[in-house]
Amino acid sequence: MTTEATAGRGLREISNENYVFLQKWVHQASGIVLDDGKKYLVDARLSPIVREEGLDSLDDLCNLLRATRGAALEGKVVDAITTNETLFFRDVAPFDALRSVVLPELLERNAATRTLRFWSAAASSGQEAYSIAMMLLDMGLSSWKIEICGTDISEQVLERARAGRYLQIEVNRGLPAKFLVRYFDRAGLDWQIKPEVRRLVRFEKRDLRDDLRGLGPYDVVFCRNVLIYFDIETKKKILAGIRGCMSPNAYLSLGAAETTFGLDERFLRRPLNGAVFYQRGE
Ligand SMILES: C[S@@+](CC[C@H](N)C(=O)[O-])C[C@H]1O[C@@H](n2cnc3c(N)ncnc32)[C@H](O)[C@@H]1O
Repeated sequence: MTTEATAGRGLREISNENYVFLQKWVHQASGIVLDDGKKYLVDARLSPIVREEGLDSLDDLCNLLRATRGAALEGKVVDAITTNETLFFRDVAPFDALRSVVLPELLERNAATRTLRFWSAAASSGQEAYSIAMMLLDMGLSSWKIEICGTDISEQVLERARAGRYLQIEVNRGLPAKFLVRYFDRAGLDWQIKPEVRRLVRFEKRDLRDDLRGLGPYDVVFCRNVLIYFDIETKKKILAGIRGCMSPNAYLSLGAAETTFGLDERFLRRPLNGAVFYQRGE
């Protein structure tokens, strides 16, 4: 019997040649850089697909990837390789700064149109986008025209995001109790986000490396904890694409280990109330 603990261990280790093939394949399919020391990760994440496809080894999976241009298999591998870790109000400080500094400024700037547009780029299973939506409702902004777009390369996480249904363990992470009570309904053992929150948010499949024109312009972009997976050229390309989707003076939030420094000097670094945002300028 195969269990989580033995997943991958029953399989022969991937050959060096196929690991190099996989590194190139993953880079091309998603932009993600798989370091040389990540064989264990590939093993753990791709072994379930090896079994599902009725194959014997990771080498067989590589051969199948070489031989087929099947979108379904390719999508499965990308879904499995991407790190989808996320939580509600992740890191707290960017959300506090959004509420206390960025939003008051935007409410003044956009008073004539009463519109607010947000982009959760690399949205994963939706917690970031829904956190923004709940904060806006909590601030009494439901009469504003609000658009929150969540995008991700992985269809699997987008399906979860669209469903807006979360496990107990997920709502226990980062979500203030008053938000759970106010914005979720019990759904069996899970929690379902309420329609009033859901109607503010939509999710679309997007690869951040693609031509992003047509998206936006957004007042605030959260692109958090994804640039770390890319090489410098890819980071530069993505930042330029994101910049093109931002309104003048719009704000960008990156993950704590990410920066525009050395990649795109047109962004202005703005420390705001314990968080760092990057502003587009005029
Ligand atoms: C670690 S999660 C970050 C989720 C959320 N932004 C947060 O900070 O909690 C990274 C997400 O980036 C997505 N991703 C990876 N490569 C991508 C690409 N080329 N284009 C768009 N999304 C990508 C993954 O599918 C994953 O859901």
